[in-house]
Amino acid sequence: MSRAVPDPKAAVGRAAAALVESGMRVGLGTGSTAVHVARAVAEAVRSGALRDLALVPTSSQIQAVCWDLGLDLLTLSDPAVGGALDVAIDGADEVDPAWNLTKGGGGALLNEKVVARAASRYVIVVDESKLVARLGERIALPVEVVPFALAPVRAALERRGYRPAVRMAERKQGPVVTDNGNLLIDAWPPAELDPVRAERELAAIPGVVENGLFTACVTDLMVGSAAGVRHERRPLPR
Ligand code: 5RP
Repeated sequence: MSRAVPDPKAAVGRAAAALVESGMRVGLGTGSTAVHVARAVAEAVRSGALRDLALVPTSSQIQAVCWDLGLDLLTLSDPAVGGALDVAIDGADEVDPAWNLTKGGGGALLNEKVVARAASRYVIVVDESKLVARLGERIALPVEVVPFALAPVRAALERRGYRPAVRMAERKQGPVVTDNGNLLIDAWPPAELDPVRAERELAAIPGVVENGLFTACVTDLMVGSAAGVRHERRPLPR
């Protein structure tokens, strides 16, 4: 008799943490699923099963979680890390069938993308609700913008068929300010979005620091559901 998994996010987070080996340089993502990864890594460090890790957080959120768990952290530029990671494990807001992602629901897309591109292996951990037929189905595309450029970037997005809105803070007056001191625009994309092209085009708008499209970077997709964890690995497209 098969038993239903009570918390798919916890199960997938634990399964992904099992990919980490002693001595690795590891990028830790942001969000509720990434917290489960950090907890499982911390448990393994405490038990002695994992040693000599160089852990790099992608946000102030996961940094605070790691500190609470007693994990030491480094930055990408620390000599022990040298700007490259063996593996990074992160959540996502949407995953399409080609493994293009929308990220940035938690506002951490800039550091998340730097870490994603620095990693040899980029593992995405999601529950089934994140799997979509096309990006933009369940979440608007987050775009991180230098405050000075807010109005021209919004206009540039509108000209390209997006419906942009500045992300406002909750329990604080005014806009969300990111870990890097920028603002966020959540932009519903046009129906015929080509994610690979759009990622490049949005990055070229002056004042855009980064966008939440992550294309051609995922090597492993792990999906948690009531039935368990499904893990697939694919070579990166050339
Ligand atoms: C934060 C992100 C997160 O990875 C994404 O929002 C997934 O979060 P969760 O695991 O809580 O669903 O991109 O900017």
